[in-house]
Amino acid sequence: MAMDYSEKVMEHFAHPHNVGVIEDADGVGEVGNAKCGDIMKMYLKIKDGIIEDVKFQTFGCASAIATSSMATDLIKGKPVEDALKLTNQAVVEALDGLPAVKVHCSVLAEQAIKAALADYYKRQGIENDISKCADCENGCCGHDHGAEEA
Ligand code: FES
Repeated sequence: MAMDYSEKVMEHFAHPHNVGVIEDADGVGEVGNAKCGDIMKMYLKIKDGIIEDVKFQTFGCASAIATSSMATDLIKGKPVEDALKLTNQAVVEALDGLPAVKVHCSVLAEQAIKAALADYYKRQGIENDISKCADCENGCCGHDHGAEEA
């Protein structure tokens, strides 16, 4: 059955932004999606509390690619605090929606960004508890947080 994807999703899937690796990244996060087994790696370059550059790699589906592309666009050039507040719902909205069965894919991008920020703080010697799914505050999203532990 064909999925009903928005034009923005198709655009970001066909021409994803910010794909790649940052060799000298200040924070790297890798997460797996417990529901499908797909994985996502996120790299952040941070200077003076601003996300100067962000890149991602994924073995994920079209929705994971599109949401990562949009999520990285949304945090690039923004303060770390803003990136921490980014939710998968905000990314889905920016893409004009996702089919309901694909919403879990958008969690991968949010979680990878949070994991990369957690790594950034850890490298700075700052204790943090941010590698945690925002959705879980309203009932668990099904994400396997255990999979994020290095
Ligand atoms: Fe795995 Fe979409 S089905 S991320």
